[in-house]
Amino acid sequence: MYPQRTQPDSLPSLDAAAATHSAHVAAHLAQAIAQAGGWLPFDRWMAQALYAPGLGYYTAGAVKLASPRDAQGKALPTGDFVTAPELTPLFAHTLARQAAQILQDTQTRAVLEFGAGSGALAAGVLEELDRLGLDVQYRILEVSADLRQRQQQRLAAYGARVQWLDALPERFEGCVLANEVLDAMPVTLFAWDEQGHLMERGVALGGDGDFAWADRPANDELAQAVAARMPPLPGYASEINLQARAWVRAMGQWLARGAALLVDYGFPQSEYYHPQRTGGTLMCHLRHHAHADPFAAPGLQDITAHVDFTAMADAALAGGLEVLGYTSQARFLMNAGLLQILGRQDAGDAQAYARLAAPVQKLLSEAEMGELFKVLAVGRGVDAPLIGFARGDRRGGL
Ligand SMILES: C[S@@+](CC[C@H](N)C(=O)[O-])C[C@H]1O[C@@H](n2cnc3c(N)ncnc32)[C@H](O)[C@@H]1O
Repeated sequence: MYPQRTQPDSLPSLDAAAATHSAHVAAHLAQAIAQAGGWLPFDRWMAQALYAPGLGYYTAGAVKLASPRDAQGKALPTGDFVTAPELTPLFAHTLARQAAQILQDTQTRAVLEFGAGSGALAAGVLEELDRLGLDVQYRILEVSADLRQRQQQRLAAYGARVQWLDALPERFEGCVLANEVLDAMPVTLFAWDEQGHLMERGVALGGDGDFAWADRPANDELAQAVAARMPPLPGYASEINLQARAWVRAMGQWLARGAALLVDYGFPQSEYYHPQRTGGTLMCHLRHHAHADPFAAPGLQDITAHVDFTAMADAALAGGLEVLGYTSQARFLMNAGLLQILGRQDAGDAQAYARLAAPVQKLLSEAEMGELFKVLAVGRGVDAPLIGFARGDRRGGL
């Protein structure tokens, strides 16, 4: 995601329809809190805010992802955030190079993408795989009904080559892709109080009916998960993505042969739970503003947390998979041939070339997406070292 950071008091104002929708979502969340006895763990609150059928941010038809420019290169003011495949098709073309190696190595011909957003990544990957002469079956598992519809429109030309799954496959062989999916999975919040007791942070209703933070003693599962990540630190708060861990671990049951490329913003455990990162990484995106208040506009804004890649790698190992590579997005894209792909464009037309090169710069720049975003590859039955990690593999730092 690529918005600017904003103070909550300078968030954009909402039109009447948006405000009404948000009020419905808030009422739904308040009811869920009441039904749970007055307190909802944050992960359950976040799951409802993002995915409650017909109401949640991902399930109620908000525009969400924006292509920053239309076909004529004109800036588009829509959506809440921009992702790498929306910035430029060259991201998908480069990822496809890595996918192609995995498919050739494992002699498989299927791609399974999770959370395919607008369908931009799928379109670009299919285009490049076709260029490489690889005829694949492309499957998509998308939890958002309206995004699924958007994907079906965008990918209609591929006919039966693209299929949508309603549930995880029992068995899959091929290449799995997930760009910015782990960060969209609900997180559990924890904090140590000043006495050093570990608390789980949840949501209650304040006297005025607004959402209010409320802490309760952590249960054993959370206490064990947190204890494995860092020592107690009174006053410190962060989050832990138990759902994403379970999701990666479960991949070990259905990914029979092949590899998954998991791309997201995040860090290894030592950076994630650094004593100076005292407030965690929870972040919200509303109309291209990034801020830290999940209660600001329920149902209208995305809520995300950075990914603890050490936890994802551990989960893959616990599920019986191998960790095949881990590096920054910039390194991965350079290794997999982004500059060669950019070099295919005609540099004679300086303006058109500059339009293509500018988003590539965003993908690679350390100050933008190049370093914060990482690529983790996990899988089984892949023999050759993956090209995307040929230089700068950081598995040792996980
Ligand atoms: C931040 S968007 C990223 C979209 C797209 N991959 C991109 O890069 O533009 C997160 C996507 O993940 C989907 N998602 C979240 N949890 C999921 C899950 N458990 N299985 C499949 N999709 C999921 C959301 O519906 C949404 O499409």
